[in-house]
Amino acid sequence: MTPAALAGLDLLATAVIVVDNHDVLRHMNPAAENLLELANSNVAGQRVAAVFADHDLLAAALNYARKNNCSFSEHDLAFAVAGRPRMHFNCTVTPIERSSLFDVDGCLIECRPIEQQLRIAREERVHDQSEANRELMRNLAHEIKNPLGGIRGAAQLLDHELDKPDLHEYTQVIMKEADRLQALMNRLLAPHRMARPAHVNIHEVLERVRSVLLAEYQKAVVIERDYDVSLPHIYGDQEQLIQAVLNIARNAAQALTEAATPDARIIFKTRAARQVVLARKRYRHAIEIGVIDNGPGVPPDIAERVFYPLVSGRDNGSGLGLTIAQNFVSQHNGTLTFESAPGHTCFTVLLPVADSVAPAAA
Ligand SMILES: Nc1ncnc2c1ncn2[C@@H]1O[C@H](COP(=O)(O)OP(=O)(O)O)[C@@H](O)[C@H]1O
Ligand SMILES: [Mg+2]
Repeated sequence: MTPAALAGLDLLATAVIVVDNHDVLRHMNPAAENLLELANSNVAGQRVAAVFADHDLLAAALNYARKNNCSFSEHDLAFAVAGRPRMHFNCTVTPIERSSLFDVDGCLIECRPIEQQLRIAREERVHDQSEANRELMRNLAHEIKNPLGGIRGAAQLLDHELDKPDLHEYTQVIMKEADRLQALMNRLLAPHRMARPAHVNIHEVLERVRSVLLAEYQKAVVIERDYDVSLPHIYGDQEQLIQAVLNIARNAAQALTEAATPDARIIFKTRAARQVVLARKRYRHAIEIGVIDNGPGVPPDIAERVFYPLVSGRDNGSGLGLTIAQNFVSQHNGTLTFESAPGHTCFTVLLPVADSVAPAAA
């Protein structure tokens, strides 16, 4: 392989294997090394049959592509690394000829694991759904806000005109409730765009949230840190990120205190993630933030819907905390997910690191 071809292949996020016309494996790019858990240096120069087992379908695909001198795609092609279980891939085999780019005659095999495709499809669906949700809520909030102003103003006028003091109680209720709804609508109409994007140190964000919650909850909860301090900065809006993490972590603190969990603790965890697909884009680097608590867990009857607006498991909850958090995270092209069981709940925020968009591959 020429250096230019190698450099190109090694940048791809899709796993690519180069096989020559004698069925000798010539190169695997890093994505293929990751996917197949093999080192290129160990397998380059070996025959396909020695490296892979159960590879009849792969051999047939290679033959077909060579014979017809055209690209061949198989939606579900299975083979195994010798000695390991079979894996299923969406494979494309493309013949290559000796040229200024390639110094072999052979084929490129692109492999995408099928499970990964299903996950991407699911994430795309969730992404679309939350976009639609957001749109609906914004329109609804606009429609409610306008008459609300009129209702409040009229109640205030009425309040001035009333001569029976005990009737003031009613106008006060109208005004207070109108104010509450107004505040709710304002939160739903929170700005669409990032206010002030800049380089953000995610640990500063977490430390701010930690100090707010420690002040609020005093000794009722312990907040531990498990940070990977080598993480790069991300590009985003610090205030939005603080609000997002605060909403997530406050839920954890509330769940812990309401259930009077003994030894209540929250863990803030940060890790680096690689090669992730977020909102249809593939990024080389991302940051994973986990907010973990040992409380009772998200009530199962609302678990499917917690990110929807107005869904709350608490009597006086607004059901907007997670909607807003998800909104802010997706404005950073990130994702917010969770897993929960009694004693262990983890909300995970994945945020892409700027300048790490991988070349369009899959
Ligand atoms: N860490 C957690 N542990 C248990 N339940 C949680 C946790 N995080 C969220 N929830 C549940 O999700 C619901 C929705 O949260 P949220 O959108 O912030 O609205 P609110 O806090 O106003 O109810 C909460 O009411 C709670 O039932
Ligand atoms: Mg909340």
